[in-house]
Parts: sequence; C-alpha cells; structure tokens
Amino acid sequence: MDRVIARTLPLVPKPIVRKFSSRYIAGETPDEALATVASLNARGIRATLDILGEHIRNLDQANQTAAEYLHLLDEIARRKLDSTISIKLSHLGLKIDLLACLKIADGLVRRAKELNNFVRIDMEDSSCTTDTLQIYRDLRRDHSNVGVVIQAYLRRTVDDVAALEELTPNYRLCKGVYVEPAEISYRDMRVINRNYVYILEKLLRSGSYVGIATHDELMVWEALRIIRELKIPPTAYEFQMLLGVEEQLRDVIHKAGHNVRIYIPFGRDWYAYSVRRLRENPRLAGYVFKAMFK
Ligand code: FDA
Repeated sequence: MDRVIARTLPLVPKPIVRKFSSRYIAGETPDEALATVASLNARGIRATLDILGEHIRNLDQANQTAAEYLHLLDEIARRKLDSTISIKLSHLGLKIDLLACLKIADGLVRRAKELNNFVRIDMEDSSCTTDTLQIYRDLRRDHSNVGVVIQAYLRRTVDDVAALEELTPNYRLCKGVYVEPAEISYRDMRVINRNYVYILEKLLRSGSYVGIATHDELMVWEALRIIRELKIPPTAYEFQMLLGVEEQLRDVIHKAGHNVRIYIPFGRDWYAYSVRRLRENPRLAGYVFKAMFK
C-alpha cells in the first residue's frame, strides 16, 4: 500500500502535493522558514533549519548552498532566534571532492562559532557514512560547535560510537530513514529499537549531549526511563522531532519540562526532494497518508 501511494504521488498535481506537504516543509524561502522558527520559539521550542537538496553536480552548487546557509546563520542571529542549522554533506560536495567539502563545512562551522551557533551534520545513506564521520572528526580538531547524526539501524553504529568516544561528540540519535541492505542494517524494528535504546544509554553514560530524535512513543518512554535512572540533567539532552509530525507527543514532552527541537526543512527543491524521498522509502508515504486521516 505504501508503495502504491509513493508511486502515484508524481501523478498528483503539484499544488495538491504542496498543500499536504506544507505541514512538513516550511515553504521555499528563508523568510518563510525563519517565520516558522519564530513561531516555535515563541512557544519555547528550539529549531534547526535544513535547506532541502542532496547530491549536487558541481562545486559551484556546493558553494551556492553554503552561501544560503551563511545567510541563514546571519538572519538567525539578527532576528535573535533559537535555531541551529542542519547540513547534508552531499549537498556541500561530499561526492565530488572530499577536501573541498571539508573546507566548505569548515567555513560554515567557523561562521556559526562567531555567531555563537551550532552546526549539525545530518547522516545520509550508507555510501556517505565513513566520509561523513571522517569530516566530523576533522572539523572537531578546530571546533566544538559541530555535531553529527548516528543511525540505530546500522550494524556499524555501535563501533562508530566507540571509535569516537574520546571526542565526547554532540550527537543526534535517530533510527535511520534510508533503505539499506540487510548485510549492513537491521530490518526488524524490534532490533532497531533495542539498538536505539542500547546506544542512547551508552552515549548518555559517556557524557555526550544527545538529541533524541524520534516520534516513537516507546523510544521516548525508554529515553525518559534512562534519563531518570541516570539522573541526566536537562542540559545534557533534548528531544528532536520533524516539523508537523506527532505534534501532540511533542507538546506532552515539552510541557513535562524537557527541551524540544524541531527540524525544519525548506527550500526551492521541496517537490523533487519529497517525491524522491517517498520513492526511496515508501514507508514515509504510509506515515504521511496516515497523518492526513488522523
Ligand atoms: P518510527 O519510524 O517507528 O515512527 C514512529 C511514528 O512516528 C510513526 O508511526 C509515524 O506515526 C510517525 N512518523 C515518523 N516519521 C514520520 C514522517 N516522516 N512523517 C509522518 N509521520 C512520521 N534519519 C537519517 O537517516 N538521517 C538523519 O540525519 C536524520 N535526521 C533526523 C532528524 C530529526 C529531528 C528526526 C526526528 C528524524 C531524523 N531522521 C534522520 C529520520 C529518522 O531516522 C526517521 O524519523 C525514522 O525513520 C522514523 O523514526 P521514528 O523514531 O520516528 O520511529
């Protein structure tokens, strides 16, 4: 059923797709996205901004993306908003030139530091994992205001976390959204969930700041259990959710006194991006369809 929904989506007129996706995507322009940040901030909720788009064809496009992020950082500071930025390294040239990508990411983290802000590196499909973690390591040599994402569905994650332990990274922990082969990823949601909880406890015990990125009430319950048992202070973690998803759960967590950050995607590429992601992972189409009828 999810697959059918995902395949028929390109047949749906764009304005209709736009109407439904507006709940999950904060428009096309920085102004629209920054307005969404402001309205969440007014309710005490933090944000992180993602300019939509992934693999690019040349470094000019990477530099263009970086310029857009620099503008965002300046606007966040000028408008006194509580928002970080989330970047995808393939959007900054990861697949074209590793060194150039590092340099571009370094420029963003440097500017963010001057503005007292923070850069989160999203994790993409498994073809990017090793290089993304290497770039994260390289950036940490000069900067502390940068964090990375790890995915509980990857078999390698527990080793990656152990290898990075001496850096006490600032992490976002998510289940993982790309479709990966079984040799390298867990498929059974029960195993993914157990791995999520296992890694979360390890990270919190080792002193890492963790963005607990999930909409799954069971993962939230487990996280709260660990936080209570280990007496983890609110300065050491936050919950993170995607714009428009499970807002009731978000508000319950926030009202209970936990910090919450919302991931806000926006950009001109929203249509191509949404269709591509739904084709890649039809499960998402099922989520969206379910949410429409809720
Ligand atoms: P699960 O998949 O079990 O979903 C629980 C419930 O949440 C579903 O039943 C559904 O109701 C709802 N839900 C989840 N996702 C939804 C969606 N997209 N639309 C509508 N409803 C949805 N992944 C990655 O690989 N790299 C990354 O960098 C990031 N970054 C990231 C940031 C933030 C803030 C979040 C919240 C998530 C990510 N992710 C990610 C995506 C994450 O891997 C993805 O959300 C998971 O596939 C869904 O996992 P849940 O923990 O929500 O559980």
